[in-house]
Amino acid sequence: MTTLAGPVAVIGGAGRTGRIVVDGLLDRGDTVRVASRRAATGNGADLRGNGVSTFYADVRDGRGLDEALDGVAAVLYLVEPGTANSGPDRPETTLYQGVRHALDNCPTDLARFVLVSSIYVTRPEHQFNEWGHLLDWRLRGEGLVRDSGVPYTVIRPSWLTDDRGGRHGIRFEQGDTGDGEVARADVATACLRALDTEAAAGVTFELFNSTGRPPASWEPLFAALAKDPVPAH
Ligand SMILES: NC(=O)c1ccc[n+]([C@@H]2O[C@H](COP(=O)([O-])OP(=O)(O)OC[C@H]3O[C@@H](n4cnc5c(N)ncnc54)[C@H](OP(=O)(O)O)[C@@H]3O)[C@@H](O)[C@H]2O)c1
Repeated sequence: MTTLAGPVAVIGGAGRTGRIVVDGLLDRGDTVRVASRRAATGNGADLRGNGVSTFYADVRDGRGLDEALDGVAAVLYLVEPGTANSGPDRPETTLYQGVRHALDNCPTDLARFVLVSSIYVTRPEHQFNEWGHLLDWRLRGEGLVRDSGVPYTVIRPSWLTDDRGGRHGIRFEQGDTGDGEVARADVATACLRALDTEAAAGVTFELFNSTGRPPASWEPLFAALAKDPVPAH
């Protein structure tokens, strides 16, 4: 594991998966910033106690992201969408506009942008799309990342569980046809490995727990993935 040459910003770092990511970054010696609507207030006291810098940021209008992302080496985006059909809590604001605001505030020499998306995004008939076209906006947010020119990894977890990490097998898929579950802690590990694995750049994949043993190394899983098509600019 290698530390990055600058701070790592975790947008959604006060959330359930985000906090596991933050702990993992601290363990490997990274300087960590959490961008959140609430971590800068009482909600983030435990984070700050661990030496994390907390920044007020709301991805819907981008407020606070300039300060939170100034000079960072990497950004992880793990934002839970609202599910309203209209208004500020519709999925468009967090899954599309929020991603755009984050990308707009990234340094030009960013080493990696990790987007946590979801399975089902290419299945518009799925019932999740009845919540403000949630899947369509997630897919469009992914597209912004793939088209941005920054080195990126798009992770599409299956249904999240609170199982302990590192206890299950791990399956990567591409093509978004699968279904299953994955522990938040294993999603967090995928985020961390995406930061320091060269083969994780320029890929989009679905993430599942599977039968069998946990992987000794995640490198071969990333290396086996097909790269995303390079966007025509
Ligand atoms: N639940 C599932 O089965 C499932 C499946 C696939 C993918 N996912 C995705 O996996 C990721 C992690 O899920 P989780 O359950 O661990 O998340 P979570 O605990 O619900 O936390 C999500 C975070 O999103 C942040 N957030 C929401 N709106 C925001 C805004 N406008 N500006 C800034 N931050 C905002 C919240 O931070 P503040 O409240 O502190 O601002 C919160 O900490 C999410 O992107 C989720 O959509 C979930």
